Amino acid sequence: MKNYIKHDEWRVIESGFHAEYNEITESLMSLGNGKMGHRGNFEERYTGKTLQGNYVAGVWFPDKTRVGWWKNGYPDYFAKVINSVNWIGIDIEIDGEIVDLGKCEILDFYRELHMQHGHLMRFCKLRLQNGKEIRIESIRFCSITHDEIGHVDYEVTPVNFDGLIKITPYLDGNVQNRDANYDEHFWEEISKKSEGKRAFLQVKTKENKFGVDRFDLAVGMDLSICLGGHAREVDFETVQSEKYIGLTFSVFAQKSQTIRIVKKVAVHNSTNFFPDYLLAECEKSLTNVADLQMLPLQRAAWKAKWENCDIKIEGDESAQQGIRFNIFHLLQTYTGQDARLNIGPKGFTGEKYGGVTYWDTEAYCIPFYLSAVDFSVARNLLVYRHNHLQKAILNGQKLGFSKGAALYPMVTMNGEECHNEWEITFEEIHRNGAIAYAIYDYINYTGDASYLNQFGLEVLISISRFWSQRITFSENLKKYVMLGVTGPNEYENNVNNNWYTNYIAVWTLKYTLEAIALVKAEQEDYRRIVGNLNFEEAEETERWNEIIGNMHLPYDENREVFLQQDGFLDKELLSVERIRQHRPINQNWSWDRILRSCFIKQADVLQGLFFFEDDFDQETHLRNFDFYEPMTVHESSLSPCVHTVLASKLGKIEKAYEMYVRTSRLDLDDYNNDTEDGLHITSMAGTWMSVVKGFGGMRVKNTKLHLNPILPKNWESLSFRVGLKDNLVEIGINREGIIVKNLSEKEMEFSLFDKEITLAGMDEFVLHTEAA
Ligand code: BGC
Repeated sequence: MKNYIKHDEWRVIESGFHAEYNEITESLMSLGNGKMGHRGNFEERYTGKTLQGNYVAGVWFPDKTRVGWWKNGYPDYFAKVINSVNWIGIDIEIDGEIVDLGKCEILDFYRELHMQHGHLMRFCKLRLQNGKEIRIESIRFCSITHDEIGHVDYEVTPVNFDGLIKITPYLDGNVQNRDANYDEHFWEEISKKSEGKRAFLQVKTKENKFGVDRFDLAVGMDLSICLGGHAREVDFETVQSEKYIGLTFSVFAQKSQTIRIVKKVAVHNSTNFFPDYLLAECEKSLTNVADLQMLPLQRAAWKAKWENCDIKIEGDESAQQGIRFNIFHLLQTYTGQDARLNIGPKGFTGEKYGGVTYWDTEAYCIPFYLSAVDFSVARNLLVYRHNHLQKAILNGQKLGFSKGAALYPMVTMNGEECHNEWEITFEEIHRNGAIAYAIYDYINYTGDASYLNQFGLEVLISISRFWSQRITFSENLKKYVMLGVTGPNEYENNVNNNWYTNYIAVWTLKYTLEAIALVKAEQEDYRRIVGNLNFEEAEETERWNEIIGNMHLPYDENREVFLQQDGFLDKELLSVERIRQHRPINQNWSWDRILRSCFIKQADVLQGLFFFEDDFDQETHLRNFDFYEPMTVHESSLSPCVHTVLASKLGKIEKAYEMYVRTSRLDLDDYNNDTEDGLHITSMAGTWMSVVKGFGGMRVKNTKLHLNPILPKNWESLSFRVGLKDNLVEIGINREGIIVKNLSEKEMEFSLFDKEITLAGMDEFVLHTEAA
C-alpha cells in the first residue's frame, strides 16, 4: 500500500516528484473522453520509469497467441488494445541539452488531476545538467465537447538565464505495447505532411493473418505560440522520420519570459471514416476548434457531467476523494454513445488485459450506468452483446455445442473469444449468466420490457440452449450437474458444481421462460424470433423445466451454507488471518498451492447472494457471509465491493467500511501492487455500488425505489442522486435522518426501511432518526 497521493475532495495530487512511483501516478492521472485517452505521461522526454500510453476506443490489434500447450478450441489471436500515436509530445532543447526529468535536477514538482474540471495540470522547476534552470507548466485534457480533440497548453520559462530555447511539438507513431507477445510494432506509416503550423500523420495497423480488419488512424496538430503573453509568429521547420513528424521552432526568451505553446490535436480513425478521408477530417476538426477557448468549455462540460453523478461524503476526505476518483474514471472511459464500444478493465489507462469486454460490464458496470446516466447508455451495452450473438453461437459451435447454443467469450473486442487459458476460456462459463442477468437488471430498473422483443429474448434463448447442453445428468445423484468449471473465484479451477454457476444457469432458464411468456403477447415479434432461431419451444422448454426442477446445488447441511463447489469441504478451512504475511498469495504462492487452499480470490457464492438476494432470507445471507468472508483474500478488484454491499445489508458496518476503503482507494493507494499497469476501471463501478447499494441501501425493484440506508460511523453525511424511470431522486443520509427529494414533476412511490411513501413532484420527505 502506498500513501503518497494527497487527500483532497476534488483533486488527485502528487506534490514533489516520486520517480519510483511514476508509473503508478501515470495510471492515476490518465485522461479520456470515451473516444480516446492516455496515461499521465510527461510531454517532454523522460528516460526514467514510464509506461507511455495513448489509446483510441475501438482500435486494436490481433496479436498472435503465445501459449505453451495448444488446446483445440483456443482462439488464434489475443486482441490487444494498442498503444497508438503519441500526440502529447513536446521536446525542449537548451544549449544542445534535451530537457529530461530523468536526467536533470528537480527543484520543485507538483502534478494534479482535477476531477471536477477534467484536466491534468503540472508544474515543475528544473535545473538542467548545464546549470540552466527552467519552469514548466502544463494543462492537458481530452475534450468532452469535441471528442476527437486533445489539448495541450504548455509553458516554459527560463529562470536564471536569457537564451534561445528550441521547441519541437511532435506526433510519433513509433510506439509499442509493453505486453506485445512477440515485441512487434503494430503500426505502419501511411503518410505524413506539414502545412505551416500544422502537421499530420496517418498510420495503419500491420497486416494480420486472422482476417481482422486493419485500422487507420490519423492525427493532426495545430500550434499557436505566445511569448511573454503575446502571440508570436515563428518559423516552423519540419522534422520527420519513419512514423514521426515534428515542427521545430526556436525562440529567444529573456529571464522570466514565458513561452507558451498551445497544441490542439485532432484524432480520427477508420471505424468512423474511410481511410482516404481521415486527414481531411483532422483538418476540418482543427479548423472547427481553432477559435474556441477549449478549457472553459471543458470545465463547463465536466460540471454538467457531475451534476447528477456526484456522490458527496462529509466527514471523511479520503472516502470522498475515493468515490469521486472512481466516478471520474468511469465517466471518462465510457460515454455510451456507440454500441460498438465497451468498457475495458483498464480503460485508457494501461495495456494489461487483452480485449475490452469481460463479464465485468454486465455484472458490475451496468448498475452504475443505469442509475447515474441516461438509460440509453446501459441499453447500448446490452445491444453490444446482441450484436455479437452470431459470434457467440459460432464460439459455442467451435467448442462442440450445437443448435444455436451461445457461449459468449470471456474476453472480446469484436465478439470473438480472445482469451486462451483453458481453465478460463472453456470453463469460466458463468459469464453467460451475467449477460442474461444484465437483461433482467435493465428491464427491472427501466421498465423497458420492449427490449426483450427487439433483442433480449434472442440472447436469452441462445444462452439457455447453452446451459441445457452444458449440464450432465448424474445417475449417481439423480440430478443435473455441471462438471469442469471455474467459478468467479479463479483460485479454484476445473471444479464440479460451482454453486454460483449452477444457480445462475437455472435462473437463466427460468427467466427465459418468463421472457418467452411476455414476448408471446406480441405474436409478430415472437414469430420472428422463433423463425430466426429455429426455436422448438415445446421440446426445448420441456428440457429446461426438467433441469430447473432437478439441478444439483451443493449445500452443507451441518453449517447450512451453500458450497462453492462439490469438493470445497475437503479443503483445510482457514481464515485469511492465518496467512497475513503471505498476501497477496498470487504473488507469493505457487499456483498449485493456491488451488489446493481454501482461499477465495473474489466473491463467488456471495456474488450469487448479491445478485439473487430476494431468493434468500437474512439468516441465509448471514451464515454464508460469515462462512466465506474470512476465507476471501480479495485479490480481484471486483471482490470487496460485493462484500461491502452484503455487509451493509447485514448491519456489519465496520466490515462494510473496511471493504469500501479497499475498493474505493484500491488504485489511489495501490493496494494490490499493480496500479502501474493501469487502473481497475470495471471495479470502479463496484465502488459506486458499495456506496449506493451498500451504505445507501438502494435497490430498484420493478422500477420502484427501495432504501435501507446505513451510515459508516465516521461519516457525517452521504448524498447521491439516482435516475429512475420517471423521476430523478436525491437521497441524503446524515446523523439526524434521511431526506429523499423528488427532483421531478411526477409523483413517486418508494419504500424507506420497508415503509411505503408517496412523494409529490418536486417535494421532499424527511425521516428523523437518531442513528440513520
Ligand atoms: C477477475 C475476473 C475479471 C477480470 C477482469 C480477473 O482478475 O478474476 O473476474 O473478469 O479480472 O477484470
